[in-house]
Amino acid sequence: MTQLVVARTRAELAAARDALPGPVAVVMTMGALHAGHAELVRRARERAASVLVTVFLNPLQFGPGEDLARYPRTLDADLELAAGCGADVVFAPGPDVVYPDGDPLVRISAGPLGQVLEGASRPGHFDGVLTVVTKLLHLTRADLAFFGQKDAQQLLLVRRTVRDLDLGVEVVAVPTVREEDGLALSSRNRYLTPFDREVALVLGRALRAGEAAAPEGPSAVRRAARDVLVREPAARVDYLALVDPATLADVPEHHRGEALLALAARVGSTRLIDNVPLVVGRPG
Ligand code: PAF
Repeated sequence: MTQLVVARTRAELAAARDALPGPVAVVMTMGALHAGHAELVRRARERAASVLVTVFLNPLQFGPGEDLARYPRTLDADLELAAGCGADVVFAPGPDVVYPDGDPLVRISAGPLGQVLEGASRPGHFDGVLTVVTKLLHLTRADLAFFGQKDAQQLLLVRRTVRDLDLGVEVVAVPTVREEDGLALSSRNRYLTPFDREVALVLGRALRAGEAAAPEGPSAVRRAARDVLVREPAARVDYLALVDPATLADVPEHHRGEALLALAARVGSTRLIDNVPLVVGRPG
């Protein structure tokens, strides 16, 4: 195993980056790494000569009253996991390094795609995400960037940012990693009590029910997923949506082809999201 380099400052990052053979892949995280992040690093390892992981809890993407203060901070364990799955460099800056002048006056606007689904519940969230993603792409000078399908709206918006602003990086999507019982891996799963965790399984069950109904058409998908969710009132559903994966617009009843079934629900004090890409309609 190669020795992991940890960079905390821009100068340390620049020196570490200069020493990396290309192509260089970046995996961006907010820390509290889990097997889903490990999978991103492994996939990056397969495509790139070097892998750089960023661990930065980005205050800009948290709204007032969200979980920034209690978000798990586990840097030592994160470094161990990153080294164990083949990262070459971890960039773990503080907010003063990423935002040396304080909150940036100029930010990336996510536009209309950032105002629906997650964006409707978390105003400004995606502006904060895209601003830091763009900065980290510049700072790391990555050739490829790996993002999880679990955050499908984020992935779409990063792709649009790269295309619309000509950022010249290849964005690679990695399928959601799940526990054996179907729970999608998330740093926020650490907040779940054993009771919450049982309740949280309803998200995966609802998505699977929707997926199974896909041959019948959009309303069958929505109905099947909703029927599962209503049987678990301890999960307070924020949204359940069957949308076009490129526009995030609700798919009409006559829609056949690719769609994204996405949902968000609050379980205990934790807000969870999950989604599944599916094909609506009967093949042929
Ligand atoms: O997906 C995340 O963990 C974050 O939104 C990201 C991409 C690291 C930006 O802070």
